[in-house]
Amino acid sequence: MEKIIVKLQQRSYPVIISEKLFDDDSYFWPLSVGDKVVFITNDRVAPIYLNILSNILDNLGMITDQLILPDGEKNKSLITLNTIFNKLLQQNYDRSTVLIALGGGVIGDITGFAAAIYKRGIRFIQIPTTLLAQVDASIGGKTGINHILGKNMIGAFHQPIAVMINLDVLHTLTMKEFSSGLAEIIKYAVSLDSDFFSWLEFHLDDLLNLNSSSLTYCIRRCCELKASVVSIDEYDQKGIRSSLNLGHTYGHAIESYLGYTRWSHGEAVAAGIMLAATTALRLNQFSHNDVKRIKLLLMRANLPIRGPKEMTPGSYLDYMIRDKKTILGQINLVLPVAIGHVKTFFNVNHELIFSSIEDTNN
Ligand code: NAD
Ligand code: GLY
Repeated sequence: MEKIIVKLQQRSYPVIISEKLFDDDSYFWPLSVGDKVVFITNDRVAPIYLNILSNILDNLGMITDQLILPDGEKNKSLITLNTIFNKLLQQNYDRSTVLIALGGGVIGDITGFAAAIYKRGIRFIQIPTTLLAQVDASIGGKTGINHILGKNMIGAFHQPIAVMINLDVLHTLTMKEFSSGLAEIIKYAVSLDSDFFSWLEFHLDDLLNLNSSSLTYCIRRCCELKASVVSIDEYDQKGIRSSLNLGHTYGHAIESYLGYTRWSHGEAVAAGIMLAATTALRLNQFSHNDVKRIKLLLMRANLPIRGPKEMTPGSYLDYMIRDKKTILGQINLVLPVAIGHVKTFFNVNHELIFSSIEDTNN
């Protein structure tokens, strides 16, 4: 078992990484006998993992309940959020209730947001079941929902009390969802850690083959990187946490344009990383060779290296202008300047963004 602490004074919490986490009740659970716990999950994850977990917590003396939501990014919405509140209010759950997000990033983000605002804030635990949620979404307390006009536009910072990562759940993911997680992993390496990028170049096939020691190392490294960034810049105000946003301004535009269907978040981020690298190249801030290394790694991970064919540069701009980093209409982009280093470029010229999108599409 590996344990990383996200250090945030009185809101610090552990990230536990282990195999066999759902096999018995001997693992650490940050709960007490008699605690009321509501699992929030979806109709894809529930049939595989919900009973196993609720039995464990029942045996430990907690009082468990569950809410099974419809699967899919398009359900990370106000309507689904209200379904959670209906359940909690109809059954009169009080402020001592603990929500457990059992699922990928969609379930984690919406459950965290419900916990952030239900009766002005209750506790929640993340049990991430996708690679993407294990390495990124479950840690750091960014919670929220999408709006038709933009991704993650409504939300709050609310930290979980623990993140419990079970490596075994990765075996039931589709290849598409596994690759989606690799996009965020590659993002960490390009943004923050050139040695980790080289490690990925060497070990990508091991990860694709679900080699247990490579997965453990990789997930642990990402969790360490995320924990250290979040500890320094929890509220994304110091220009440090924004390094985790590489590829996301372009990527979110793709997801919003597609109405949160067809492309997974990770696929959009992968294309976004290539678009960011191409933009940095156009600004003479990044080398051809590094663009090539990123492209090759994304391709080996079965990820897209350009956006959807039908998406014009203008349609990217429509969404990028509403990005959370855009201030007074000026588009600010996190771009790589070397493998392992990113910088925020302020007020990036729209024509240059257009040309970069065209370069990537060709
Ligand atoms: P997801 O939650 O939609 O999960 C992908 C698919 O895998 C879904 O169909 C899901 O039901 C299924 N699934 C989950 N676990 C499974 C398992 N073990 N076996 C089989 N199927 C399983 O998508 P995601 O990629 O996990 O997360 C993407 C979301 O995370 C986006 O909404 C993104 O904005 C958000 N995100 C948030 C943060 C953050 O810091 N809060 C960071 C990165 C991404
Ligand atoms: N995934 C970006 C962040 O947590 O800041």
